[in-house]
Amino acid sequence: MASDARRVGVVGCGLMGSGIVEVVARAGVAVTVVEADGDAARRGRERLERSLRRAVAAGKLAEQELAPVLGRVEVASSLAALSTCELVVEAVAEDEGLKCSVFAELDRVLASSEAVLASNTSSIPIARLAAATARPERVVGMHFFNPVPVMGLVELVPCLSTSEGTIERADAFARDVLSKRVVRSVDRAGFVVNALLVPYLLAAVRMVESGLASVEDVDAAMRAGCAHPMGPLELADFIGLDTVKSIADVLYAELRDSACVAPALLSRMVESGRLGRKSGRGFYEHGG
Ligand code: CAA
Repeated sequence: MASDARRVGVVGCGLMGSGIVEVVARAGVAVTVVEADGDAARRGRERLERSLRRAVAAGKLAEQELAPVLGRVEVASSLAALSTCELVVEAVAEDEGLKCSVFAELDRVLASSEAVLASNTSSIPIARLAAATARPERVVGMHFFNPVPVMGLVELVPCLSTSEGTIERADAFARDVLSKRVVRSVDRAGFVVNALLVPYLLAAVRMVESGLASVEDVDAAMRAGCAHPMGPLELADFIGLDTVKSIADVLYAELRDSACVAPALLSRMVESGRLGRKSGRGFYEHGG
């Protein structure tokens, strides 16, 4: 059962992968994270340590828990290291070809025919990832939110081939082991959150583009007027403007809704390398 998994696998140690590793290890479960790129593995480990120290400073994690949590994390460079896992969460870059090749390889290396293969994708249809394997009934979407240790939600996304048993095991793991609130969505572009959130972010970009209000005022309006922790442009920078644009493109391709068309300003910013926090500049300057 995934809900009492002894070792969970995570593929990819970027922002989302390292966050997923953190919540699994903090839940008391051993985790092997596969990151083929040595530099990315080092940065992921540093991000994990920084986040854990922040949790200690905020009183969310006991100081004496730090070493045991880190001790539960093993970093590997090959998917073969996951062969005995009963649950693997894929969190590599949002590239369909890359994700499909990871799923095909996981299908080959996972010894147990019962193992659950989950994807943290925010926009690629789960059905396409399932079709890359010979066990489509074991494939499911498990979409986490950034920062993973802070955000309480997991979107659980079965595709047409996902078995009821797989859904239940992934649901039990996210809910009972990771203590996340689980919402279910059908396998449609944007699932629940991004289908609501991304048109809102695009509308904020359009407001700035049309001169209706400044970046700072749009954000201040939603923070002070609606108690959002971040305004939409701040949040777009946080998510990554390239990611926002690529989710918008996926939504538009499926829904043909003009609210999902990426505004020219967003496209130009992405083409200019202004990607938000990750590149140091987006709607705001991000130092350090
Ligand atoms: N572990 C546990 N708790 C942690 C932590 C960690 N590693 N790091 C921070 N926290 C806690 C803090 O203790 C604090 O808790 P309290 O409220 O109980 O005091 C809380 O998290 C907030 O942390 P900070 O005070 O350090 O930071 P902040 O107040 O500036 O908030 C933020 C930062 C959490 C990012 C907040 O601005 C926020 O919620 N922003 C919105 C984020 C959001 O919408 N994310 C979803 C993006 S969409 C997505 O991810 C999906 C997609 O597909 C695009």
